[in-house]
Amino acid sequence: MEDKRKRLFSGIQPSGCITLGNYLGAVKNWVALQDEYDCLFSVVDLHCITVRQDPKEFKNRSLDFFAMLLAAGIDPKEHVLFFQSHVSCHAEMAWLLNCYTYIGELQRMTQFKDKSAKHADNINAGLMTYPVLMAADILLYQADAVPVGADQKQHLELTRDIAVRFNHAYGDTFKIPEPIIPKVGARIMSLQDPTSKMSKSDPNPKACISILDSPDTIMKKFKSAVTDSEAEIAYREGKDGINNLLSIYSAVTGTSIEDAVNTFAGQGYGTFKVSVAEAVIEMLRPLQERYAEIKNDKAYIESVYKEGAERAGRIAHRTLTKTMKKIGFMIP
Ligand code: TYM
Repeated sequence: MEDKRKRLFSGIQPSGCITLGNYLGAVKNWVALQDEYDCLFSVVDLHCITVRQDPKEFKNRSLDFFAMLLAAGIDPKEHVLFFQSHVSCHAEMAWLLNCYTYIGELQRMTQFKDKSAKHADNINAGLMTYPVLMAADILLYQADAVPVGADQKQHLELTRDIAVRFNHAYGDTFKIPEPIIPKVGARIMSLQDPTSKMSKSDPNPKACISILDSPDTIMKKFKSAVTDSEAEIAYREGKDGINNLLSIYSAVTGTSIEDAVNTFAGQGYGTFKVSVAEAVIEMLRPLQERYAEIKNDKAYIESVYKEGAERAGRIAHRTLTKTMKKIGFMIP
């Protein structure tokens, strides 16, 4: 049965915290898509070191992210959950693909431009070749589908370009992956500046909701969300703050934006914000309860990531060997 279902890969970087944006744009859909696909999910720790990490903090955070994915409902028996750094094929494949990717392509990536501006003192080569590692992650597993938020679309397009280029040069080698981007929730915006994306690295803690924030904190953050000076709950251009709150409400509850607008029509912003906060709190409650149970069970977490690395490693190794053969390497 396993081989008949389509395969899906996705990853999350263990930097900052898992935000409401990560959850609604990606993780929530990963959980739902487990019924339909054979899935591999990875805590992509190799990606993190394009910015300096404190070693101890980095290690603890990586484990926390892993536990949070389990708490969110990733099923490690049916699917594969692993740390990227435990499968050395990722770094090896990234090197191969680096040689089939043009510098011009990498320099055009929006995220590279943004991050270079933000970390002007550390524009390392990894920051630029980061999308190649991401392509390696995906292509190693011959993934049919990759569920991501809208900000990763450009990286997915590059992955497809690299795969097509390689296949063209050497014959069919890689599956060309399709992005899965949710209709609502693909781009959750900052609560303090709704024209920019909610980001783990936002220095203003009120801008971003962590999926582990307490109900009290979530309520406070929504109450102080930046909106506008009108008093109309409507979804339209120029109402970025309200649009964002409506999108969050819609993604959390499954109601359409239209229905949400009708539900809240005529209400004040204050009441609306409380309703959005309550919906988010209720959505996260079971996840937070499970996280509290799992996070101290080191033996369980270790058993999951060890098995995950083995299962992922077998698939990855097959694709890496195939790719190396095509290029003409001697395979021992
Ligand atoms: P990362 O770790 O920044 O984010 C993880 C996922 O969350 C989505 N996301 C958002 N969705 C909606 N609104 C937001 N404000 C928001 N912020 C983040 C991201 O689109 C992503 O799906 N490079 C990737 C990680 C990665 C990856 C991969 C993903 C590495 N290799 C292979 C897919 C396949 C990243 O930095 O995501």
